[in-house]
Amino acid sequence: YSLKKHNTFGIEAKAKYFFEFETEEEIQDFLQKNDIIDTEYIILGGGSNLLFTEDFDGLVLHPNITGIELLDEDEDSVLLRVGCNEEWDEFVGWAVDNNLYGIENLSLIPGKIGASPVQNIGAYGVEVREVIENVEAISIETKDAVIFSNAHCEFDYRNSVFKNEYKNLFIITHVQFRLKKKADFKIHYGAIQKELEAYNEVNLKNIREVIIKIRESKLPDPEELGNAGSFFKNPIVDKEKADKLKSQYENMPSYEVNDMETKLAAGWLIEQCDWKGKRFGDAGVHKDQALVLVNYGNANGNDILKLANDIRKSVMFKFGVKLEMEVNAI
Ligand code: EPU
Repeated sequence: YSLKKHNTFGIEAKAKYFFEFETEEEIQDFLQKNDIIDTEYIILGGGSNLLFTEDFDGLVLHPNITGIELLDEDEDSVLLRVGCNEEWDEFVGWAVDNNLYGIENLSLIPGKIGASPVQNIGAYGVEVREVIENVEAISIETKDAVIFSNAHCEFDYRNSVFKNEYKNLFIITHVQFRLKKKADFKIHYGAIQKELEAYNEVNLKNIREVIIKIRESKLPDPEELGNAGSFFKNPIVDKEKADKLKSQYENMPSYEVNDMETKLAAGWLIEQCDWKGKRFGDAGVHKDQALVLVNYGNANGNDILKLANDIRKSVMFKFGVKLEMEVNAI
């Protein structure tokens, strides 16, 4: 079964088995009949955060659950239940059209609803954890349907319990989002403020438009050029280390995480090592955002992985900073 259409890097890889399902009952029934816990399997949504480095000799589970339901509503907010295979950005567009606030800054992020809690997607000062009330999932071990509250998800920067102790143990089927009926814009991010100056009103539609414009100007469209968004996480280092680097490199962007830690911009570090826009065969570093690796057509996963490792080595050599991959290599 070809996975080329199921990963935004557009890498040709084959899976031995592929199972797609449309309801919770269907997957529960499948799991009752096939105990897969000891076999090799992955749960594949939109494939926007994956890098296949070889054919996958196991089972791919692809949930195809869709729909948006209203679960609850009060004066200030609505609680929505969204199927895991809805396209993230279509949901953002829908929310904006319905005057619901909270996710407009997350416009144009590729991927499906079900993946949004896994890595706590975030952009322009907003993380999805701020609007997630519950995550519904099926346990692969017990086959039961379970609900995780927000606290139970252990959200952190680009991280959640689903990437750690529960990795691959739950199939997320729905996410429940609490969206606001009143404006609470987060537009402190420099580029947003600047672009908004051209508009005579700050409203949902305009913010979405501005964010789409900013993203399109820096980030390649996976339909046109294979990529998985940020390939690395922005590294978090000791404040001491960051201060030392800042005294050496005055223009280095950095963001305070807490009293002890500082986040650095991986894109900047990579650009300083002269990787931006470089191409090796069909694997390359995007010309406008060094944090994004791209497939010009026929790169395989190992070409991309080799490039990633070379980048990591040079950032380590020049800055003594360890870059961690955000993308999952399989
Ligand atoms: N920078 C460079 N060169 C580059 C890229 C960035 O010098 O090639 C500098 C920028 O000038 C800026 C700083 O690095 O001073 C940060 O850059 P940017 O605002 O573009 O954001 P980022 O930190 O590179 C993160 C997310 C993005 C998200 C943006 C906007 C991570 C790993 N990435 O990128 O997420 O869209 O912030 O909020 O946190 C994604 O996950 O796929 C993704 C695109």
